[in-house]
Amino acid sequence: MLTTIRSTNSNTIIYIKLAKLLVITGNPGVGKHTVAKIVAKKLALKLIDINTVAIKNNAIIMKDNIGYVVDLRKLSSLLRGEITKDCLVVGHLAPYVLKKGDASLVIVLRRSPYELEKVYTKRGYNEQKVIDNISSEIIGVCLYDSIKKFGRNKIAEVDGTGKKADKVVDQIISAFKGKSKRSVGKVDWLSLIVKNDDLQKFFEYN
Ligand SMILES: Nc1ncnc2c1ncn2[C@@H]1O[C@H](COP(=O)(O)OP(=O)(O)OP(=O)(O)O)[C@@H](O)[C@H]1O
Ligand SMILES: [Mg+2]
Repeated sequence: MLTTIRSTNSNTIIYIKLAKLLVITGNPGVGKHTVAKIVAKKLALKLIDINTVAIKNNAIIMKDNIGYVVDLRKLSSLLRGEITKDCLVVGHLAPYVLKKGDASLVIVLRRSPYELEKVYTKRGYNEQKVIDNISSEIIGVCLYDSIKKFGRNKIAEVDGTGKKADKVVDQIISAFKGKSKRSVGKVDWLSLIVKNDDLQKFFEYN
């Protein structure tokens, strides 16, 4: 990836080759893999799918009715061997298996609980798995953990709700190229579900 750097005391543009690692993370079902494939192709980045690395290399401890239980330490060390210059790492486990210095930009993809519910129903998730994943998206667990791991200034939150994949891809590429401001905190599903009187629907309480 060629990156332009303009020096402060002259108008000389120096082209230097910098390693760039783009991360796309977010809750299961937000659309990460759909957009990651297109982004990797458009930016000529090597695509590394964290889930595939875990499964192919047997970094799975067990499988229960919610899903795979992953050996995060093993997966993290496996990824050390996979990550090269100019790659795109995709997966919801990114904040738990990458190091802070690994990433140049971390996209946290968000999607409304109403759209996620449809995705999970289509996937045949059981009730507990649906509630676990939707409540985690509503309170923004992945965003919070990504900020904690990578630092706020490396994060760009992108809301894919109601957008075609190509539009989401354009937003990610624009953030990657530094053409749009990185920001977090725009998404507020909690206010949305309270407004719709759906708090009880997505959270188990009496
Ligand atoms: N922008 C979009 N608009 C509408 N549907 C989408 C969009 N992006 C993805 N989808 C659909 O949503 C579903 C989930 O997408 P995808 O598998 O890419 O999610 P994911 O975040 O990679 O999930 P996981 O972490 O479980 O692998 C798929 O059925 C996909 O076709
Ligand atoms: Mg996927």
